[in-house]
Amino acid sequence: MVYKLGILISGNGSNMLNIIEASRKKIIKSKVATVVSNNPLALGIKKASKKGIDVKIINENKYSHINDFENSLSKYLVKKKVDLICLAGFMKVLSKDFVKKWNNKIINIHPSLLPAFKGLNTHERAIREGVRFSGCTVHFVNKKIDSGKIIDQEIVKVFKSDNVGSLQKKILMKEHKLYIKVLKYLERKNGEI
Ligand code: GRF
Repeated sequence: MVYKLGILISGNGSNMLNIIEASRKKIIKSKVATVVSNNPLALGIKKASKKGIDVKIINENKYSHINDFENSLSKYLVKKKVDLICLAGFMKVLSKDFVKKWNNKIINIHPSLLPAFKGLNTHERAIREGVRFSGCTVHFVNKKIDSGKIIDQEIVKVFKSDNVGSLQKKILMKEHKLYIKVLKYLERKNGEI
């Protein structure tokens, strides 16, 4: 299966850029139809535009209700014929209605070995708990935060000398590898896992 990807970002966009590049280099068959940011200040916006990708800012602060924001988002993704939504550092929790509408068509990358450390500040918590291994997970998005079906994971060793910054760096490198591996896998399996 060849997807038309819609990548949703809120910040830096390194996973997004990595997917754009993998598509350009034909490492994956799928194409990036659009990048959407809910944050007008996201650094990823410029990075995607520079690559000639269609970028849309749907500023969440301009909507008084999440339903209105999500309706605009959905409409735009449909207009762009997106058939797989890739969350890549998208910091807004999507409602159960949105998730239902895009059932099994939204995947997310999370910087921990789920089900451990759902939510925010994963690296701080991993270090505080003294875990010896951490990593990242790509999973389908369902109505509960970071709880959808796991597609694949990558592991990193956590050393006593690691701090939040060093762990984040190591895991981000694995994230880039993992997201592409998962997209290739879904392409092969027609989205069925
Ligand atoms: C990544 O660590 C991702 O797992 C998390 O947010 C971060 C986004 O990084 N959801 P980037 O914007 O892709 O550089």
